[in-house]
Amino acid sequence: MTAPLIRALTLKDRDTALTVINTAAHWYREFVPEAEFHDPEMTAADWEAEGQRMKWWGVFLGERLAGVMGLEYIRDVALLRHAYVLPEHQRQGVGSHLLDHLEAQVQGVSRIVVGTYAGNHKARHALEKAGYHLSVDSEAVLRTYYGISEDRLRASVTYEKLLSPT
Ligand SMILES: CC(C)(COP(=O)(O)OP(=O)(O)OC[C@H]1O[C@@H](n2cnc3c(N)ncnc32)[C@H](O)[C@@H]1OP(=O)(O)O)[C@@H](O)C(=O)NCCC(=O)NCCS
Repeated sequence: MTAPLIRALTLKDRDTALTVINTAAHWYREFVPEAEFHDPEMTAADWEAEGQRMKWWGVFLGERLAGVMGLEYIRDVALLRHAYVLPEHQRQGVGSHLLDHLEAQVQGVSRIVVGTYAGNHKARHALEKAGYHLSVDSEAVLRTYYGISEDRLRASVTYEKLLSPT
């Protein structure tokens, strides 16, 4: 893999970030019921609204944005959100690299939470490989920290990791 560069994204990156998100999210078709599948997964307005609450990060291979992820603080936790890697760059360590980078950015809280579809085995394997464990009560975690639709909530699980004190 080309040495990746990670940086915070700005409004200028919005459209390329949306291409990454909406292309990678086609994978959801494999396990999300047709009625609940959205294409696009995220609109420009959604991306900007999310950017008000959290910080968008991107991983670049050369000039190309290959993956995105968001870091949001809510109450006593950091949420890692919206992890997407372009299909042609998946399974090459890009997502893990970005995940490690965002974990290293976390300050002021010791608990990181990530939500994903229960059927999303790629994300679940990636999180388990990175040392995350399934929450004891995913529904409670989702209701406490996420503002998502009931459909998505019922289809989702959460993973967590406690950061070691530095
Ligand atoms: C989930 C995702 C972000 C992972 O990014 P990635 O760059 O492919 O991940 P990595 O290459 O760093 O892989 C890390 C681990 O994830 C797991 N993984 C990744 N792709 C996988 C696949 N197709 N099948 C099974 N496990 C997979 C593996 O455990 C892998 O480690 P390994 O290759 O040593 O076995 C990426 O697959 C993606 O964008 N998926 C579509 C969108 C999505 O599901 N987002 C998650 C929202 S929570």
